[in-house]
Amino acid sequence: MSATPDCGTRRHSFSGHTTTVPHPDRMTFTPPEHIPKQPVFELSALSGGPVGASSSPPSLRDAPYQRPVNRGSLAIALALRHIGLSGRNEVLVPAYHCGAMIEPILAEGGVPVFYRIRADTTVDLDDMAQRRTAATRIVLVPHFFGFLQPLKAVRAWCDAHDLILIEDCAHAFFGETEGCPVGTQGDYAIGSTWKFFPLNEGGCLVSFRHPLNAVKTHAPRLSEELKAVVNTLEYASHYGRFGSFNHVFKKSFLLKDWLVRRLKPDSPSLAPQCRTGEIPSPEDFVPAPFNSGFDPKRTTVSGSLWARWVTEKSSSSFIVEKRRQNYLTLLKASATFPGCRPLFPHLPEGIVPHVFPLVMDQPMAVFGKLKFAGVPIIRFGEFLWDEMDKGTCPISEDYSRRIFQFPCHQSLRPHELNWMIQVLSAVLTGSGSLPSHPDQRAS
Ligand SMILES: Cc1ncc(COP(=O)(O)O)c(C=O)c1O
Repeated sequence: MSATPDCGTRRHSFSGHTTTVPHPDRMTFTPPEHIPKQPVFELSALSGGPVGASSSPPSLRDAPYQRPVNRGSLAIALALRHIGLSGRNEVLVPAYHCGAMIEPILAEGGVPVFYRIRADTTVDLDDMAQRRTAATRIVLVPHFFGFLQPLKAVRAWCDAHDLILIEDCAHAFFGETEGCPVGTQGDYAIGSTWKFFPLNEGGCLVSFRHPLNAVKTHAPRLSEELKAVVNTLEYASHYGRFGSFNHVFKKSFLLKDWLVRRLKPDSPSLAPQCRTGEIPSPEDFVPAPFNSGFDPKRTTVSGSLWARWVTEKSSSSFIVEKRRQNYLTLLKASATFPGCRPLFPHLPEGIVPHVFPLVMDQPMAVFGKLKFAGVPIIRFGEFLWDEMDKGTCPISEDYSRRIFQFPCHQSLRPHELNWMIQVLSAVLTGSGSLPSHPDQRAS
C-alpha cells in the first residue's frame, strides 16, 4: 500500500526536534494507523451522479475551466507555468505552509516571500502589503483546514497592485463564505482531490476567470492508470471495506506485494523492528523523512481516468454532510479534553472541513503516545521552510509546533470515530487504559 504523505516538509521544525533525518542508530518507524487517515473507497458512497448537485454547497467542480492533475502541488506548478514567471518573480506565501506549496514555486523559478497570518489563520493584509516589492507578481492564499477565509479584501488589494491571486483550495474542495463560492476569488484555484475523495492521488487546477486552453497536459501511462485503481482498492481492503469479499482482496494484495518484491528486490521494505516484531516505544519514535509528494517531472501529466471517475461519481452531499457531522462530534467531545483547544470552535454554514485541528498545550508529550496508539495525525506545516527567517510569523511558528489535525472524513465509521475520541481522551487525561484496536468489521 503506498502511503500518502502528511503535509510537512523535510525542512526544519519549530516543534522542538529540529530535523527528521534519523540518527544512524535509530530506525524510522511509522506505527500502523488503526483507522483510515484518508477517505476510503466504498461502492455505497458513489451516487451515480455528478458532484455539485443542487442540495450541495458549491465546489471546485463548478469552475468553467478545469485541468485535472495528480496532486495539488502540481496544480500550483501548472498555474505558475501558465502565468509564465520571468526573472526573479516573487510569490507571496503564508508563513504557515507545507513543502508541497513551496517546492512548485522554486521548481518554476519563483522566489517565495513569506507573509504573516492572524490567529484565526486569515491573511494579515498589512503585513502582506509591507512585503510587496517591485518583483512581487503572485499571491498564494490557502483556506486552512477547509475553513474558507474571506478573500474580497485580498482580491481588491491584488487588483490594485496588478497581482495574480492563486486560491489554494487544497483543504477546501467545497463551500462558500460571505457569498463567495470556493475558488471564485482567485485568478486560479488549485485543489487536492485525494483529500476529499477516496483516491490515492488527485488534484486540479481550475479557474472561474481565465480559460486554461494554453495549459497542455498529457495522459498518464497505462501502468500509472492501473496503479491508481490498485492503490485505492488496496487502501480500502486494508480497512476492511469489502465486507465478506475483503479476505479475497487482502490475499490478492499480499500476492501482489510478494510479486513486486520478487521483481524489484530493492523496493522499500519494512524497517527491521517490524520484521523482527520488536516494536520501538513512543520515546524512541523517529518520524520517517518527509516527502511532499511533489515531482516536477509530473507537472504536465493529467489526472488518472480513475481519479476523474471517482470524483465525478462520488456523492457530494454524503461527503459534505458526513464531514460536517464528524467535525461536530469531535468538537463536542473535545470540550472534555484537557490540555488542548479546537482551532475553530464553530463550524459555520457553508464550511466543509478537511480535518479537525486541535491546538495542543504540550504537543511533544502526547504526539508519540497518540501515534503509537494507532491514531492518524496529520501535521500540516510541521516543518517550515528552512530559508524562512525565524520570527517571520510567531503565530505560524506556534501553530507549526502545536496544531495536530485529526481525520473527520466521510468514510469514518461511528465506531472508528468513537475509538479515536476514547484514545484522545485517555491520552490527554492520562487516565485509564487505552481502548483496544477498533474492530474494523463492526458496524
Ligand atoms: C495548503 C496546501 N496546499 C497545497 C498542497 C499540495 O497538495 P497535494 O498534497 O495534493 O500535492 C497541500 C498539501 O497537503 C496543502 O496542505
